Amino acid sequence: MERTQIVGTGSYAPSRVLTNQDLERLVDTTDAWIRERTGIEERRQAAPDESTSDMAVQAARPALAMAGIQPEDLDLIVVGTVTPDMPMPSCAAFVQAKLGARRAFAFDVAAACSGSLYALSVADQFVRTGQARRALVIGAELFSRSLDWSDRNTCVLFGDGAGALVLAPVSDTDDSGPPRGILSTHLRTDGAHAEILTIPGGGSRMPMTEEVLHERLNTVHMNGREVFKFAVRALVDSTHEALAAHGLEPGQVDHVIAHQANLRILEAVLARLEIPREKCWLNLHKYGNTSSASLPISLDEALRAGRLKRGDIIVMMAIGAGMTWGSAVVRW
Ligand code: COA
Repeated sequence: MERTQIVGTGSYAPSRVLTNQDLERLVDTTDAWIRERTGIEERRQAAPDESTSDMAVQAARPALAMAGIQPEDLDLIVVGTVTPDMPMPSCAAFVQAKLGARRAFAFDVAAACSGSLYALSVADQFVRTGQARRALVIGAELFSRSLDWSDRNTCVLFGDGAGALVLAPVSDTDDSGPPRGILSTHLRTDGAHAEILTIPGGGSRMPMTEEVLHERLNTVHMNGREVFKFAVRALVDSTHEALAAHGLEPGQVDHVIAHQANLRILEAVLARLEIPREKCWLNLHKYGNTSSASLPISLDEALRAGRLKRGDIIVMMAIGAGMTWGSAVVRW
């Protein structure tokens, strides 16, 4: 049987650093509050002339280089984003053009902070069926332009960035030992909880008007406490489900690659799963919540730090607006 392997990773974070101290000058907050409640120390902010597709391309190039392929070799590009360059066309179309990936068809997936996990799952299906041999999966998010910089509940949480993964097929007969690659992805959605995390204005329900702009309804609105509770429950459940599908126990997990929303969410999830914190790659102290970018950035950093060894079991998990969430199991 053919399955999909991750053969290249890359990531990009804009150079401008916004520290908690910088935010103390913008809103009524403190460095201590942000660190204690979220684990975030600083985040990155895109330059004024930088767009989501620019960041995506910066993450894609090192991923393609690691995979040893050229942009023209790509059959498919899937970008997980809810902060595209513009409502139409897709961010993926701009990425395809900027990379010069002439042969690739390209589209976006909108699943907020679960975007790269959803994009990975979609691309995995194309690769498994043989409709795409080489696929590029990107999570790219530029939330700094969709935040209300006077709302301390939200503006301290998010950062800009992008991460990329290159996928290719691997056959079980290519290898001795247990099958490697993406073993499965488990995606979930519960739209009944959509209202706890939204950008309410600027779409068809509430088109952009002066009032929408004045009320800042074109920015992120969140019930943080509800999101927190939902996230812990959902991530624990989907990870149990994903592991059980392969007869695995949490104790057999070598690495957790998780969407980085809040350190306390991750600690609560890891404690409930009884997975030691050291097994989870953590970088939200330096990037904040980069939404769909955080999962591929984390995988890229863990790989380049030499943490991932052949045969290791990796569980990925992400949660985002929708609510959307899910887990994936990968044997490296
Ligand atoms: N600085 C100082 N105080 C702040 C603050 C900030 N940046 N943001 C909120 N507060 C205040 C609140 O206004 C509230 O004050 P009040 O009691 O006077 O109303 C108080 O802190 C406590 O708020 P609460 O919501 O109980 O805090 P919390 O411990 O739940 O932490 C979050 C708030 C947002 C950090 C936390 O709920 C969270 O991380 N939720 C998940 C958010 C998330 O991950 N979203 C993305 C999902 S992909």
